[in-house]
Amino acid sequence: MDSIVVTGGAELRGEIPIAGAKNACLTLMPATLLTEEPLTLMNAPRLSDIKTMTLLLQSLGAEVQSLQDNRVIAMSSLGPINTLADYDIVRKMRASNLVLGPLLAREGHATVSLPGGCAIGARPMDIHIAALEAMGAQIELKDGYLHATTPGRLQGAHIPMRFASVGATENTLMAATLAKGTTVIENAAREPEIVDLAACLSKMGAQIEGAGTSRIEIQGVDRLGGATHPVVTDRIELGTYMLAPAICGGEVECIGGRMELVTAFAEKLDLAGISVEETARGLKVKRRNGRVNAIDVKTEPFPGFPTDLQAQMMALMCTADGVSHLEETIFENRFMHAPELLRMGADIEVQGGTAKVTGVERMKGAPVMATDLRASVSLILAGLAAEGETVVNRVYHLDRGYEHVEEKLSAVGAKIERVPGV
Ligand code: EPZ
Repeated sequence: MDSIVVTGGAELRGEIPIAGAKNACLTLMPATLLTEEPLTLMNAPRLSDIKTMTLLLQSLGAEVQSLQDNRVIAMSSLGPINTLADYDIVRKMRASNLVLGPLLAREGHATVSLPGGCAIGARPMDIHIAALEAMGAQIELKDGYLHATTPGRLQGAHIPMRFASVGATENTLMAATLAKGTTVIENAAREPEIVDLAACLSKMGAQIEGAGTSRIEIQGVDRLGGATHPVVTDRIELGTYMLAPAICGGEVECIGGRMELVTAFAEKLDLAGISVEETARGLKVKRRNGRVNAIDVKTEPFPGFPTDLQAQMMALMCTADGVSHLEETIFENRFMHAPELLRMGADIEVQGGTAKVTGVERMKGAPVMATDLRASVSLILAGLAAEGETVVNRVYHLDRGYEHVEEKLSAVGAKIERVPGV
């Protein structure tokens, strides 16, 4: 297993290109199952999660090709379609569950392995199941698999979601495009990835109103066509790299970044003393006056502060002036970066869903362990500012969601390298 070695202390200057969104691409790809015509995605990120989704779709009978240095994903699902999403692939990536809605809509049945818990929480699928059952699906959990069938075509329904689940909104949205009649999703997730999916589905002929609001209305159609669609910019990669000059000084322009993707996050950075300037090509970020203020953060569904940036913000707060409180409301176990940051000399007390961080003058590099995707990158950020060398092990977690993190950071002056595993 590869490791990444970071030597802290360098100020960062230059440009970091921001890739297409992993979490948009992972929901756009299953949409190929909704049509027999070609669906082509541009600006795709080059990540191991995308490769996993590629393998899953190929196992279902879709043709998936990565072209132009993996930046373009050309897909077509002429059929026949296999409707078993096997545990061996699904266990690697929860987003595999996003084939459930499209398979039900296309074939009227699906057998999808439950993804199983992951590092950050149990991650049940009750909201997905309730929504699809409201549309007429019969879903039974047996031997770790969801066995779903629809007697005939899915029916449009009124679906109040108990929580604005991103994945459940995506599964329901895709299923509803081919259902008979009208579907209304209440308390829908409002993430930009949902807006991007709806934009692509609309190009394919779907009739969708309200994506990006908490009420989405879908008029089912008999068939969908193909489309070519550019994947939206990755707001979590963007937020992550905005924190790099914040944590170790300097000035970095995140190319392709757009303020509307990170408004709540940028507001918190502003309170912390970090300036974010919109430029013609992206977002330019630097400390306003050399110091970082401690601030409080509470994660919420979009447009609130994103849970996927909580670990990274905690790294910044470890050397801020004062005491900050980070409250995690989306996942039940998303502070696994805390013990690793403590090894670097941070002062963090976790009490239930809140982490109290008391800023220290400087952290010390140490060997640390990546546990999940966003926790891993928070350790890289901490290493950029720490004294000495930080070795982050198990970086396969990182490669799931960050393209060549060592290349992007060394291009702006960070002392960082990947050490191939034995
Ligand atoms: C998506 O996961 C993202 N993944 C996650 O990003 C992100 O953290 C999450 O949304 C929240 O923004 C992808 O888009 C591939 P949820 P998802 O359904 O859809 C509970 C990353 O680092 N819940 O909104 O799985 C669930 O357990 C990943 O890129 C139910 O209880 O998130 C969690 O506590 C991590 N029942 C909360 O809701 C359900 O049926 C949010 O889950 C569904 C979810």
